[in-house]
Amino acid sequence: MNEDALITKLNWFYSLELQQVNLYSSQARAMGDIYLAKTLDRIAAIEQQHVDNIAAEIRKRGAEPAKMGDVLGPILGRLSGTLTGAMGPITTLKVNITLEEKAMEDYKNLILRVGDGHLFDLLWNNLIDEDLHTAWFTNKLRELEKITRHH
Ligand SMILES: [Fe+2]
Ligand SMILES: [Fe+2]
Repeated sequence: MNEDALITKLNWFYSLELQQVNLYSSQARAMGDIYLAKTLDRIAAIEQQHVDNIAAEIRKRGAEPAKMGDVLGPILGRLSGTLTGAMGPITTLKVNITLEEKAMEDYKNLILRVGDGHLFDLLWNNLIDEDLHTAWFTNKLRELEKITRHH
């Protein structure tokens, strides 16, 4: 993978992570359920660490992190229409699972293309964080869907 292509890909992750920070933070503010709100805040803080660690990798290569336009819309497709306004908890979780799964897929693809080293380890760490987020969101979604079905 040449350096330009790598920088472009890192900028894509930088933008994705940044937009996830903003989205999860606004979801947390709109969420009535305190456990869900606190978890979204905590996950937003972890996404902020990803923003920072990807930005550091870009700068290490002599470039400046560049924000791309809407990265979430193309991932969410028809779900992106629900992004504005307060989403209910079930839609929130579905949207977030879709984003986390896309992030995981792309981290896995990039891991296969970079050699062993600092970036390789960093991508693995971010990937595992996204896997943990997906697991929590999925578990919570199942719980809420179970409650909904019983009413
Ligand atoms: Fe992330
Ligand atoms: Fe995540």
